[in-house]
Amino acid sequence: MRIISAKDYQQMSRHSANVVSAQVILKPDSVIGLATGSTPMGMYTQLIKWYQKGDLDFSNVVTFNLDEYVGLGKEDEHSYYNFMLKNFFDHINIKKENVHIPSGIADDIDLECSEYERKIKSYGIDFQVLGIGHNGHIGFNEPYTHFGRDTRKVELAELTILANSRFFENPNDVPTHAISMGMRTIMQAKKILLLASGKHKASVLKQALYGKIDPIVPASILQLHTDITVVADMDALSEI
Ligand code: F6R
Repeated sequence: MRIISAKDYQQMSRHSANVVSAQVILKPDSVIGLATGSTPMGMYTQLIKWYQKGDLDFSNVVTFNLDEYVGLGKEDEHSYYNFMLKNFFDHINIKKENVHIPSGIADDIDLECSEYERKIKSYGIDFQVLGIGHNGHIGFNEPYTHFGRDTRKVELAELTILANSRFFENPNDVPTHAISMGMRTIMQAKKILLLASGKHKASVLKQALYGKIDPIVPASILQLHTDITVVADMDALSEI
């Protein structure tokens, strides 16, 4: 495990954008797993800047997002599809057919999950970007998730619903279920980049990286990955 420490959120965003850039430059047809949420937003902004300067080319990159809310369609402003367009894809030269995000309004959600998993397996993820939830979740794999699970429909933990309510006008509008890549799906990525920022992530980051490997802290399984880079700011690293 490599830990790259940054002085603040801005530097964490820049360092992580550097790591993603290196991946895209070394392998222009990389298959990259992406996360939403607050943590990677600065990284996306930085990548867009470097793309606009002509330093990066995403034309052969393929992406798979970690998750999507069940019940929200592409056009819904709160969907992760919309988040990704707004914060990243609309500003770079990625081909829309190379973007993969499960549909939260598919008629058959279980089929959508198994098809998504099949597609991920057929490509193979080279590089997976992750954030970490307050309760140690990665993707929407909440505490006590079996480490062997694939992409599937999951129920969000109370803490996750509360944390994500900041993106919704009315906390009651936060969906209660999502489609999420499984722990096994994530662990099969060749490389993993875990991002963390802020004091509120310090305790869970310590448990994830140095605590017991236990489904109570889903991210603790990452200790077993052979190629993981953590980019975190001083606040997130303050308990380590
Ligand atoms: C998002 C995702 C989640 C977030 C996590 C942290 O696609 O899968 O695991 O990475 O909830 O969210 P933020 O970055 O908002 O603290």
